[in-house]
Amino acid sequence: MSEIALEAVGLVRRIEGAISHTLVNGIDLAVDKGEFVAITGPSGSGKSSLLYLLGLLDAPSEGEVIICGQPTSKLSENERAKVRLTRCGFVFQFHFLLPEFTSLDNVLLPMRAAGRLSEREMRERGLELLASLGLKDHANKRPNQLSGGQRQRVAIARALSNRPEIIVADEPTGALDTTSTEQVFAILREIADQGRTVVVVTHDPALAARADRRMHIVDGKVHQTLAGRGQAELEAAAPTET
Ligand SMILES: Nc1ncnc2c1ncn2[C@@H]1O[C@H](COP(=O)(O)OP(=O)(O)O)[C@@H](O)[C@H]1O
Ligand SMILES: [Mg+2]
Repeated sequence: MSEIALEAVGLVRRIEGAISHTLVNGIDLAVDKGEFVAITGPSGSGKSSLLYLLGLLDAPSEGEVIICGQPTSKLSENERAKVRLTRCGFVFQFHFLLPEFTSLDNVLLPMRAAGRLSEREMRERGLELLASLGLKDHANKRPNQLSGGQRQRVAIARALSNRPEIIVADEPTGALDTTSTEQVFAILREIADQGRTVVVVTHDPALAARADRRMHIVDGKVHQTLAGRGQAELEAAAPTET
């Protein structure tokens, strides 16, 4: 039986001000453990806003985000931060690695913040993660000594460091060349196949096609959901309106 890792119920995110704006306008979603969901949609449709809510980087105006069975809307800021740190890993379009830190030290940051492992255990895990992402020889390099694809893989290692159940990624390949894009997607796919839940915002239909489910967002609402890998190829093969 499948197990729901991440659930959103009636999610709304509104910005109140001189001009109020609804970024996310009533989204329901349940993502299984090990499922890979791709979110697509036009620019400004609320994809990033939704992802920040799902990863507890932001709090909804209405609705609930349930992470591994735990509702999060009533948690204090400290409790939310703890759930976020241990259960959610983030990958952004730009790597956001600390420039003065080596790859390894960047990967160690979330582990240090969680404080669950000894220094030796953290370093072992950090090196293991970097090696598993093909960065064995780059552990002691700083971000500016790495290529874009390598930096993004360090960012993925950092996201995985606390063994989060959920990985959210916001256009993680948006600034990468084709080869690195392919690598990053293969890695994210593998992360899901190993039993984690992956939610990725992407503009690339070929990449979205490799997800288990695609959710197309327009104006902060789910416009269309497509299930199954390969759905995009079917569509691409179909005659299109001109
Ligand atoms: N903090 C904010 N205040 C006001 N408007 C915002 C804020 N954050 C995002 N927006 C606007 O909300 C809309 C949705 O943004 P976003 O979630 O970033 O969309 P996407 O990731 O799909 O491009 C956009 O029109 C954006 O300009
Ligand atoms: Mg965005």
